[in-house]
Amino acid sequence: MARITVDLTHLPEMTNPKFYPLFENQDRYLVLVGGGGSGKSVFAAQKVVRRTIEEKGHRFLVVRKVAKTLRESAFAEVRAIISDWGLMKLFNINKSDLHITCKNGNEILFAGLDDVEKLKSIFKVTNVWIEEASELEISDYRQLDIRLRGQSKWYKQMIFSFNPIYKGHWLEGEFVNIDWTAKRDNCTVNHSTYKNNKFLDPAQTEVLESFKESDPYYYSVYCLGEWGVLGKTVFDAQVVTKRISQLRDKKPLKQGFFIYKYENEKIVDESIQWVEDSGGYIKIFEDVQKGYPYVIGGDTAGEGSDNFTGQVLNNVTAIQAAVLKHQFDEDLYSKQMYCLGKYYNNALEGIETNYSTYPVKELERLGYNRQYTREHVDTFTGALKKSYGFRTDKLTRPLVLANLVQLVREHPGLFNDIETLEEMLTFVRNEKGKPEAQSGKTDDLIIGLAIAHHIRTQQIFHIEAQVEDNDEDDEEPKGGTWYD
Ligand SMILES: Nc1ncnc2c1ncn2[C@@H]1O[C@H](COP(=O)(O)OP(=O)(O)O)[C@@H](O)[C@H]1O
Ligand SMILES: [Mg+2]
Repeated sequence: MARITVDLTHLPEMTNPKFYPLFENQDRYLVLVGGGGSGKSVFAAQKVVRRTIEEKGHRFLVVRKVAKTLRESAFAEVRAIISDWGLMKLFNINKSDLHITCKNGNEILFAGLDDVEKLKSIFKVTNVWIEEASELEISDYRQLDIRLRGQSKWYKQMIFSFNPIYKGHWLEGEFVNIDWTAKRDNCTVNHSTYKNNKFLDPAQTEVLESFKESDPYYYSVYCLGEWGVLGKTVFDAQVVTKRISQLRDKKPLKQGFFIYKYENEKIVDESIQWVEDSGGYIKIFEDVQKGYPYVIGGDTAGEGSDNFTGQVLNNVTAIQAAVLKHQFDEDLYSKQMYCLGKYYNNALEGIETNYSTYPVKELERLGYNRQYTREHVDTFTGALKKSYGFRTDKLTRPLVLANLVQLVREHPGLFNDIETLEEMLTFVRNEKGKPEAQSGKTDDLIIGLAIAHHIRTQQIFHIEAQVEDNDEDDEEPKGGTWYD
């Protein structure tokens, strides 16, 4: 049979730029996630039609959870592309069976997952498009994944199109990182919103934007294209989601960790060096500024979590300057916190002591001289005692958290780390009313941050005038030697 040739010279103009490069994408999992009206479904349909006409030997399966929803959605979209591209003559479209055949022998089949009999009769599938994939259970997806095995001439791909209906959905767990990159090999994640769709009708844009006032959940999911939050969170989910969305295109100023010389059981201060590393466990959003005071709050690994965290605040502005998070052992954590503190002008450090006092003691042993001190009654002698480190208990935990909750609501611009903000979206009240991370989620970044804000009163709030290091005489420094 003659090869089909179709004029697709205008394809770039007929496709949204956010999606166009994905025509060439050959990863097994192509994840199209985002807000409403961003062009996900139209692109998926375009890719299916294009491959159907250009690659002989295909049997596409287009699925949704419920069969009766297919006709008006995916089927209508595929049909519209065939028609828009002037290809009607090449296809046979059976509307009653939702079955499309191409003159080259390729087929596009549509089935709902509730269509058990129909699904059974469909074999040798070479590609799958799952429309509104968030409707599926993870077990549905796994079965489709198994069906898409075996040899074929062309690359096999599963396309998923869906809205991020709630944080913690299995699609997030399986494929999607916090920054909308892919969680695994052989997978591409493409995040889009209505802003990426140049074809969208202005009336639709208006509807999406109007959710801002009327429905915060819809606004997050369908306008901003951010994971929705179900249930009651301790932090204001709408404010947090909006801040996350503002931070999406921003990368940290620096990312990496510290290296240092270790001699005679001490860190050699002059040897401390920042190493840039794109996977590094310290993210810097605002670099150290001369004369500025900083505080660092830290949370240590304990019940239900293996993470150690550090949150650096500029104590003049209260802006989140840097974040450390890693599953260290205590020893390495203490040393990185030492370096981080030195780097940020000898910052005041307040580390949680509930699960372990090791980091606090280790900092002391290393000669770190700026630690938060708490007063408490010595249970043995009854005397008032001062100790290093922060203790979270029935009184202090609600206090530091309430303060942070208010700050987030009133000054979201102080917060720069998406990962910290994401923790806030899964930080909920349990049945007993105690705020804590949802099961499977962590709160170490939140606790570290709450401590950092709390200990600010033990640090100065003003920029310190500094004398040049080489200023050896005792005279009052002149104007030029001061920093402002
Ligand atoms: N490539 C395109 N060409 C023409 N119109 C498009 C294109 N992509 C999107 N559209 C228009 O934008 C609307 C929304 O796109 P759609 O793919 O349904 O969004 P989503 O699936 O992301 O919600 C479509 O109904 C269509 O009118
Ligand atoms: Mg769609």
